[in-house]
Amino acid sequence: MGLRDSLKFKGSNSTQILRGQHFTTVSKTEDFLSNNLSLNDFLKHVGYTIKVHFPLEEEILIPDFRPYLRQYMEFEEPIRIITSEHRSINGIYMGINSPRLYEVQDDPAISEEEKISQTGHIAKIMLQHI
Ligand SMILES: [Fe+2]
Repeated sequence: MGLRDSLKFKGSNSTQILRGQHFTTVSKTEDFLSNNLSLNDFLKHVGYTIKVHFPLEEEILIPDFRPYLRQYMEFEEPIRIITSEHRSINGIYMGINSPRLYEVQDDPAISEEEKISQTGHIAKIMLQHI
C-alpha cells in the first residue's frame, strides 16, 4: 500500500484542485520510485508542480490560511516547513537543469548518476511534503 492509498482526507470544496494535484504528485512520485515512471517524465511533473502548484499554495492558500493558524498556534512552523520544502525542491530542480558555470564549457551538464541521486532527493522531499 502506497501513500496514495492513504490520502483519505477530502478537505473543503475550495481545496479540491490542490488535493487533486497532491494525489497526482504522490502517484507519480511513487511510480518513479518503483521504476514505473521515467526520470525525465517525473522531472517534467516536478517542473509543472514548481510552476503551478507551489504558487497556488504560496500565493492563495497560505495567505488565507495564516490568520487562522495564528488563532490556534503561537508559531507558524507548518507554513515555514511548507515554504522551505518548496525552496529545497526548486533549488535541487534548478541545479539539475542549469548548466554549471564553473565546469569546462564542453561538458556543462551534471552526470547521469548525480541527476538520478538529486531526483531521488526531490522524490523523498515531495512525499514528506504531501
Ligand atoms: Fe501542496
